[in-house]
Amino acid sequence: MTHAAPVHVWLADSPAPVLAGEFTHDSAGPVGRFRYDASYLAARHPPLAPDLPLRSRPFAVAGGHGIFPLFMDAGPDAWGRHLLARRLERDVSEVEALMLCPTDGVGNIAMGEIMPERQRVLSVDEFLTILSGLEAGGQAQTDQEEQVLDAAQYGTSLGGTKPKLTVSRDGVHYLAKFPQQGDSRWLPHIECAMLKLAEACGIGTCKDPEVWHLSAGRAVLLLRRFDRTTTPAGVLRKGYVSAHALLRLDLATPAPAETLHYGTVGFTSQGLRKSYVSLAEGMARWCGGQAAHRGERRELWRRIVFNALIRNLDDHSKNHGLLCEDMVQQRWRLAPAFDLVPATALPQNPALSMGYRYVPGTRRGRQPLPPRLVTTVDAGDLVAAAADHYGYAPEEAQEALHAIAAIIADQWRKMMSAEGVPGEEIRRFETTFGFAEALAT
Ligand SMILES: Nc1ncnc2c1ncn2[C@@H]1O[C@H](COP(=O)(O)OP(=O)(O)OP(=O)(O)O)[C@@H](O)[C@H]1O
Ligand SMILES: [Mg+2]
Repeated sequence: MTHAAPVHVWLADSPAPVLAGEFTHDSAGPVGRFRYDASYLAARHPPLAPDLPLRSRPFAVAGGHGIFPLFMDAGPDAWGRHLLARRLERDVSEVEALMLCPTDGVGNIAMGEIMPERQRVLSVDEFLTILSGLEAGGQAQTDQEEQVLDAAQYGTSLGGTKPKLTVSRDGVHYLAKFPQQGDSRWLPHIECAMLKLAEACGIGTCKDPEVWHLSAGRAVLLLRRFDRTTTPAGVLRKGYVSAHALLRLDLATPAPAETLHYGTVGFTSQGLRKSYVSLAEGMARWCGGQAAHRGERRELWRRIVFNALIRNLDDHSKNHGLLCEDMVQQRWRLAPAFDLVPATALPQNPALSMGYRYVPGTRRGRQPLPPRLVTTVDAGDLVAAAADHYGYAPEEAQEALHAIAAIIADQWRKMMSAEGVPGEEIRRFETTFGFAEALAT
């Protein structure tokens, strides 16, 4: 099956999107192609991303779903796909999902025709009115009512990703994250506390996170959208690329031998590809200059340390990304940190989702050593990695690690308590934060 869809982009200074080009997709292959529109090139608009420089020849992408990784970020997650499939009463392919989903995806790109119904954003008041109507026994009939119902019922029909909605309040766009079935009811409070704790550690985070209280003791995490800015002219958008897309992970299929290999030496080229080490390197082309790249690598290391110390072990490649601060200059910076959740059930050797230190193998000497990719949380490895990959001097990294541990040890309880987390819930995290407390002393 083939599809052709316009690709629109919101340029930095306008609330209305412009046509950037056309995406064609052939599911046999699958292979995708993108070609800038002649009008976009003639207007001398900026490129969409460093890997899509301006030119009239098409770009082709093969592997994975045959879709440009940058475009995938504009699409719905599993929960959004489920809403779409239910509305259409059939399964939707990845390409169709991109062409039909609401245009509230992260970043500044939308694929497919931009119909008014794709652009609708619920206001907080509309949300509450729909919710109280449903609670009074009303039936969900419209799409919006279904969405509210699903979100407020903890996304009963879908495991995996949490229900999320973009809602507007006083014209400002927020991401509302609802706990999913099985989550602690304190999750929004805890996540909110962790964002504030990260900020106290000097990490760039979503500003002013809030816990939004609904009826019946239900709470939602409300985050101002970092890729939207409200101006008198309307809402502006910034480009976004997830680490997953930047590293083109969807396009690479690991060979079966890789998995076997991992069992023996703990290293695979796929693991390295999907690592903080590769992200630190790969950001170079997006940052626009060595000095900026070093700044972002250092910030990335602080986030690695923070994740390691709060035991956020779900720090996967879609939980990091870059925001476009200047399309013309193609200057991208790490987006504010998000999805910071401490684990309570800790494995024996807690490990991050992505490798943060790479030690090449050696063939010399009597005992050749295989390469190593470190994911297990270890203070020595964190400091060594800082110097190897993230632009720190070793002593400086040692100090920074200690300083972050000290702030976490001092403030984690206070921050949780300030969000209203009760004492017995806070105590469930004592082992989690024990590592930071031990490092701090
Ligand atoms: N403040 C924000 N502004 C704009 N987009 C955001 C913001 N926070 C998160 N996002 C985007 O929304 C996506 C989902 O957010 P988040 O990772 O917090 O949810 P999640 O459901 O907990 O994810 P996971 O599937 O990792 O558990 C992120 O991958 C990111 O692209
Ligand atoms: Mg996430």
